[in-house]
Amino acid sequence: MTAALVIVVSVYLLALLFFRDSTITLKFNREELKNIPLRVGRGFLWGSATSAHQVEGGCTNNNWFLFESAVDAQGKPRIVNGQKAGGGADHWNRYRSDIRLMKAISLNAYRFSVEWSKIEPREGVFDDDALNHYADVVHALRLEGIEPMITLHHFTNPIWFEQQGAFLQENAAETFGRFVRRVVERLGDSVSLWMTINEPTVYALNGYLFAEFPPAERSPQKAVRVLRNLLRAHTEAYRIIKEIHPQSQAGLGINFFVFDPPSRLNLLDVVSARLITRGTNESLLRYLKEGIFEFGVPGVARESYRSGLREAFDFVGLNYYTRFRARINPFAERWANPVKNYPPDCSTDMGWEIYPEGLYRAAKVIASYTAKPIYITENGIADERDTRRAPFIEDHLLVMNKAISEGVNIRGYFYWSLLDNFEWAFGYTKRFGLYCVDFGSQERTLYKGSAVYPAMIKKFDR
Ligand code: GCO
Repeated sequence: MTAALVIVVSVYLLALLFFRDSTITLKFNREELKNIPLRVGRGFLWGSATSAHQVEGGCTNNNWFLFESAVDAQGKPRIVNGQKAGGGADHWNRYRSDIRLMKAISLNAYRFSVEWSKIEPREGVFDDDALNHYADVVHALRLEGIEPMITLHHFTNPIWFEQQGAFLQENAAETFGRFVRRVVERLGDSVSLWMTINEPTVYALNGYLFAEFPPAERSPQKAVRVLRNLLRAHTEAYRIIKEIHPQSQAGLGINFFVFDPPSRLNLLDVVSARLITRGTNESLLRYLKEGIFEFGVPGVARESYRSGLREAFDFVGLNYYTRFRARINPFAERWANPVKNYPPDCSTDMGWEIYPEGLYRAAKVIASYTAKPIYITENGIADERDTRRAPFIEDHLLVMNKAISEGVNIRGYFYWSLLDNFEWAFGYTKRFGLYCVDFGSQERTLYKGSAVYPAMIKKFDR
């Protein structure tokens, strides 16, 4: 019996060692981080980010517009309090004054998305007024010395595309490519930074596994099929952008999940954290490098795709917010149960842990795959009381600075978000803005905590 027990324990400990992630215990000290000279490369982009449906207003021809009027099987509205994006922050009409708000806090870059359903309202029919609007936005940005980064797909689809099956379709990449070509032909002379797809994993999992995004399905196989086709769409968009403007830089926006085991001695925790990290972040990074996407969970879902195009990217867009911990029980109704073992004052209004070390860990993982530039294209906090915004910003910029000081090729930082906005299924209940928006009067007011951002920008040597 003893020998058998020794063998079992030994195998268990060896497995824990094999799957271990030594960065889990990383803990930074703010005062030590402050001792590192604040230095970024020449031309570093200090920006903010938004997306069309979340700030523009008037997005009434897409999948989210329909979803906002839908209810779930229990008759509960899909959006908190039954809210709708509606007029939003009216950014479509107020972009000129909003650009002045960017200048007022020393920003030199702005990441925003173009709304596919406004540009191609019916399949194959393109609206030149919509394209001209975005050309005006780009022109207004450039007049203020602000570098535009355009996101071509940020979760929304035109209704006609959604009703065809969206990215479940085998020809989705070509349909998306036709839209991309029109946008790049119209705007490409004055835009040199393109994000093809924002967070393919979030779109696929929330829409087809967790049912929190449209079309609210619960099919692991469909989720992986959609992820595969989004990656194909990225490659098609990249190919088109480089064909029309070879000097432009195009990248994919990755929502980098830092997924840690609740207990480092629980083998199921350790193995599931490793597999989820590999299945989300690392499968995307491998696809970018090698053009190979492979995902397989036996008995659950399996997909693979080879694009035949290695290195089909010029930068990685890193969207980082938090670390997740969850106990996985594949046999339970709810197979992932979050474990929140951090103090309440260390979390955001989304219930996410404030974990700046995760930004460093994410950047280091990406740098282990590629020496190409990284833009931190989203990082921010939902903080209605404005009590944690300042330390959040300071700590994440200090951690970013540490990564840069160690040679990680970070070229820019875009805070999410410029304005309070429509936070998808949470509606307007989460305040992510640098600027507070009174959605009645449309008045913008800088949160006190946001003042740290321009103050830190001024301290960095370039
Ligand atoms: C995302 C999106 C943004 C969100 C932001 C806060 O990551 O879901 O890119 O649209 O609003 O991340 O959740």
